[in-house]
Amino acid sequence: MMIKVLGSAAGGGLPQWNCNGRNSADARKGAAGLTPRTQASVAVNADGAQWVLLNAAPDLRQQINETPELHPKPDAAPRNSPIKAVVLTNGDVDAVAGLLTLREGQPFTVYGTERVLGVLAANSIFDVLDAHLVKRVVMGFERPFAVEGPSGPVGITIEAFPVPGKVPLYLEDAKAGAGLGTQEGDTVGLKVTETSSGRHFFYVPGCARLDDALRARLKGAPLLVFDGTLYTNDEMIAQGLLNKTGERMGHMNMSGSAGSIAEIAPLAVGRKIFIHINNSNPALRQGSPERTAVEKAGWEVSYDGMEVKV
Ligand code: MLT
Ligand code: MN
Repeated sequence: MMIKVLGSAAGGGLPQWNCNGRNSADARKGAAGLTPRTQASVAVNADGAQWVLLNAAPDLRQQINETPELHPKPDAAPRNSPIKAVVLTNGDVDAVAGLLTLREGQPFTVYGTERVLGVLAANSIFDVLDAHLVKRVVMGFERPFAVEGPSGPVGITIEAFPVPGKVPLYLEDAKAGAGLGTQEGDTVGLKVTETSSGRHFFYVPGCARLDDALRARLKGAPLLVFDGTLYTNDEMIAQGLLNKTGERMGHMNMSGSAGSIAEIAPLAVGRKIFIHINNSNPALRQGSPERTAVEKAGWEVSYDGMEVKV
């Protein structure tokens, strides 16, 4: 199975359009060690031809153009695409807005939890994806299914499982208390398996904390692609970017005793890769002390165009 990182950044990307923080400003200047990044999405392929997107970022048009494997086949019909399905892990703007790029009458399948498909159903702009061509299929929890495109299974099996997270920003309900109206199914992780070989990895681009269920699930995993939004819980506040902690945004941070590096260390995960990395995160900068600490702890920081073979 081949995984291609289409985008490695969190919402906003690097640089972010209105951000004058140190990473965005330096990335804009072309400073060494800071490569521009688009918003988080990966493409997965098992049969050499049919691709499944895990989330559809607002940058999807650019990501497709920069990824030859996702281009239409030159020797096929006037309209064709190797993208056969999109699997959604949440309803955030940076996970679903790219669906609008996939209009133009192309058949494919969209998978999401009841909660996430409910978000699409409640926003009529997504009806630009003709329901006769673009099937929406509900993913239950812990029920592995063969991903199907318009012409049948694509050789990939997916299992969705709930992870601690948060309702999308634009649906937060301040009156609903600390959870802001978050329900199970607002954020999920995916176990992605090559059907023929059983080889698999876990995709968890958004996670508020590790609970016992998630610990048990990830224990001994061969590969984990995980939420790398922030290095420290309060870095956005410290940099004057936004008055919110990672905790408030539904993202656990990398560093510290309750951070993802320390929490995941005992789980004996074979290969660990961060994705959905916010433009405030100092570990984005190659050679920074934070990046060095991340790498010393056995983690990789994904980048746009990264290829991972499973
Ligand atoms: C997040 O990951 O917390 C969201 O993408 C934030 C947002 O919607 O801007
Ligand atoms: Mn996000």
